[in-house]
Amino acid sequence: MKGVILAGGLGTRLRPITNVTNKHLLPVYNKPMIYYPLETLMKAGIKDILIVSGPEHAGHFLHLLGSGKEFGVSLSYELQDEPGGIAQALGLAEDFSDTEPVAAILGDNIFEDDLSDVIKKFMSSPSGGHIFLKEVTDPQRFGVAEVAGDKIVKIIEKPKKPTSNLAVTGLYLYDSQVFSVIKTLKPSGRGELEITDVNNAYVGQGKMTFTVVKGSWTDAGTFESLLRANLQAARQQGVNLQ
Ligand code: DAU
Repeated sequence: MKGVILAGGLGTRLRPITNVTNKHLLPVYNKPMIYYPLETLMKAGIKDILIVSGPEHAGHFLHLLGSGKEFGVSLSYELQDEPGGIAQALGLAEDFSDTEPVAAILGDNIFEDDLSDVIKKFMSSPSGGHIFLKEVTDPQRFGVAEVAGDKIVKIIEKPKKPTSNLAVTGLYLYDSQVFSVIKTLKPSGRGELEITDVNNAYVGQGKMTFTVVKGSWTDAGTFESLLRANLQAARQQGVNLQ
């Protein structure tokens, strides 16, 4: 199984901090943000990892992470010329994936839990897709899953009136069909190829399974969530914050 870290986009919601640097290079407690998704993949034993980023800061990622030798993994790099959406960024990993299944993770997603058991189980018989849901208090900020028993009924991207509090987190496991699915997508209202459309394609085929994440999870793409990510990471590392 190959790993893909999606670190493109402009981080506009974090301006002015992202005026001259990339969101995924910002500190989250004592490490650059991108270390956290990298560690999530590494814990699951994924050793071949592609980092997709925009051209403005691609050199900085290379400078920071290099070949991956320091981490015991092999890192490759791909450019996303324009921020055309998460699904577009993932589509750039087709050659890299070389028909293997992929674990794709957003560069601003920080998980407390070790998810390696679920990832390894999917790896052992990769079929369809698998997503990770988390109960949140502000679901309108995320893709939201409507669930019936052990089935996902549908996912709605940033609904005004969410029908559940289950956010779709930014870790996605897909079989190699994902690249055919991406080729069928049309840009959304915000002009992006949406990962939620990819997920709904799998849901429509009855091929999407899910895990509800128990431990803390946050993205870090807004001032509030970046602060939360810092606090979460510090607590995880045993810091006693008042
Ligand atoms: O964090 C989970 C949420 O991430 C999901 O619940 C949503 O369904 C999903 O659409 C996404 O929502 P956001 O609005 O938070 O996505 P954002 O545009 O902030 O992008 C998240 C990461 O995806 C970003 O840190 C880097 C990567 N990305 C994004 C875009 C738009 C790319 O690599 N390329 C892109 O063009």
